[in-house]
Amino acid sequence: MNRAILSTILIGLSTLPIRAEISHGENDLVLGDFEGESYDPWTATGDAFGTGPARGSLASQMPVTGFHGARLANSFHGGDDSTGTLTSPPFAIERNHIAFLIGGGKRPGKLELQLVIDGQVVLGSTGTQDKPGGTEALEPGFWDVRRFKGKTATLRIIDEAKGGWGHINVDHIVQMDAKPPGLWNELSVNVSGEAPYLLIPIRNGAPKRTFTLRVDGKVVARNDIELAEADDADWYAPMDLGPWKGKDIYLRVDRLSPDPAALDRIVRSREPRPDPKPYSEPLRAQYHFSSARGWLNDPNGCVFYNGEYHLFYQHNPYGITWGNMHWGHAVSPDLVHWKELGDALFPDDTGMMYSGSAVVDWKNTSGFGKDGKPPLILFYTAAGDEYTQCLAWSTDGRTFTKYAENPVVKQVTHGNRDPKVIWHEPTKQWVMAVYVELNKVHTIHFHTSPDLKHWTFASKTDGFFECPDLFELPVDGDPAKKKWVLTAASSEYQVGSFDGKAFKPETPMLPGHRGKGFYAAQSFSDVPDGRRVFIGWWQTETKGMPFNQSMSLPLELNLVTTPDGPRLTFTPVKELEKLRVKTLDFGNSDYPFKLPRGAAMSLTIADADLYEMRVEFEPGDAEQFEIELRGHAIAYDMKTQQLIVNGHAAAAPLIGGRQRMTLYCDRNGLEVFASDGQCYIPMPGNADPKKRSFSLSSKTGTPLIHAFELHELRSALQR
Ligand code: FRU
Repeated sequence: MNRAILSTILIGLSTLPIRAEISHGENDLVLGDFEGESYDPWTATGDAFGTGPARGSLASQMPVTGFHGARLANSFHGGDDSTGTLTSPPFAIERNHIAFLIGGGKRPGKLELQLVIDGQVVLGSTGTQDKPGGTEALEPGFWDVRRFKGKTATLRIIDEAKGGWGHINVDHIVQMDAKPPGLWNELSVNVSGEAPYLLIPIRNGAPKRTFTLRVDGKVVARNDIELAEADDADWYAPMDLGPWKGKDIYLRVDRLSPDPAALDRIVRSREPRPDPKPYSEPLRAQYHFSSARGWLNDPNGCVFYNGEYHLFYQHNPYGITWGNMHWGHAVSPDLVHWKELGDALFPDDTGMMYSGSAVVDWKNTSGFGKDGKPPLILFYTAAGDEYTQCLAWSTDGRTFTKYAENPVVKQVTHGNRDPKVIWHEPTKQWVMAVYVELNKVHTIHFHTSPDLKHWTFASKTDGFFECPDLFELPVDGDPAKKKWVLTAASSEYQVGSFDGKAFKPETPMLPGHRGKGFYAAQSFSDVPDGRRVFIGWWQTETKGMPFNQSMSLPLELNLVTTPDGPRLTFTPVKELEKLRVKTLDFGNSDYPFKLPRGAAMSLTIADADLYEMRVEFEPGDAEQFEIELRGHAIAYDMKTQQLIVNGHAAAAPLIGGRQRMTLYCDRNGLEVFASDGQCYIPMPGNADPKKRSFSLSSKTGTPLIHAFELHELRSALQR
């Protein structure tokens, strides 16, 4: 591993104690002290700053402390909801640093003291508070401005925020050569391409520090990171600076405690994971997708493009809990072997990158295609102060460009999210299903578009929460008999019709999966053989690992006719059969055979930890049928026709008097498919490392076994 210590490329790390007083040198230049009756020579717009500097607190404000002299700039005039700006006259940057005192709300981009050069915001600092309560105390901060020396700049204080902590306090802005004290630290990094990763030491649960990356005056990434500030990292998170190769990248770390060594522990690396054996952790899922590092939730942008399946996912690269939502990215030739490519979408000034979908624009309706190649289009929710639906495009499936005219669908209500886009062939248009909460009702809005950029509201339907999906399936495999399925995050669904504008349900709301921890599943777009392949976020907890959560198996969805009407079936995709390495049976080649009453039939494959099992049986005179697999207990109750997996029961009817079941067991859980896929029971739970065997038993009678297979599976991980 290339362990060149970052400090060799640092400029100006603050190592001074947090609340040190600002001391002044004779040569310091005061840019704004806000001591007069009016702001002159600064100019104010809006109401928030009033007509002149405040003498401390304003009406209904908690005590304001920590400012310099008798007055300060305070944007609480008229309360939190007022907005406005304060702008300085132009001045020349003549010193190394600009120091200031700042307090109020922590809302980057909305509440900021900004340094503006040539019309661009080159630096900005926000307040300190983001929770009810807190303090109105101002704290010292500073910027290193050596790189702007000689330039003409202005300072601007903006208050564009409403609601709790919707104001900012600023005072005593001074240019100075000496390095001022402060909570803010700035590193300047230039990535030559040699070692593009910063490996950030993470301590799970440590206070969050805000890391802001600015390139060419623009914020390109902002993340709240549980930085290990002492020598106590749980793991290292790679921060990929490759996209800004050759540029000056300014990394600010806000609110760092005054440990001079904290940033020295960040190292530069050629590899994202210098670990010689990636994916070798004991609780790592072996054929369920999990991210190398960090937290994962919803699958996003599931699509087949240019000969590969693409799986994007909600990813926190810097922590093992939810936050900093990026779109992680992995590709696979077969839905089973996945290769991680690094994050594709990064949080920016429009917010975090929430869930969404992808389509191949075969006819290049969007115009993003190049040289006859259809573009891949991603739709995501930018979850910032406003929640908007946006697109990003690619022509190589590797690099993604956010559309300059985003958003494509404006906020309807706060929190609207998760666009799922499909092509509707009969009306030859695009359709977007988006989750919207309207007057406390969970609703899906449908929009239509000719070109993926311009969208028109078409209709809405109630009763679905988050992450909608909409697709058509043949009933019983008959292409002449097709029905539409509308589903959302819980995987509950309705079957009905869709005319390109509105969904008309023909069934009540029906249950989807019958197990635990399966959520926000999405179907793949553009699968070449027309199958509807579905994959869900599987809430598998893997304590003590540098990663958390995984995806379910890829599932094939079908619609079948049942006595109650059409129903979805969930079955594991056939590609998973490639993982079989060894097959065991009980030495009976003649089916059916009677499972003897009482005694368990056991099979052990020494050291095997991954299994697939298939069984078909008839109850006979037995009341119950039990399976034990790697410590998981599965029982089928013949009378109630219920399947009980680790104590969790679900209806699993016999079909034609028989039960057909498939089990997939990985290190992080078990998935059980029964009743020909009508009953799907995902069950997170780490397998017991000591229990490797398999057994089949019936304590009460002799069921008739019609078919049985036990397969040891190989790992699908790239090593
Ligand atoms: C569902 C969800 C989505 C949202 C995403 C954020 O799990 O809440 O609605 O887009 O997670 O990570």
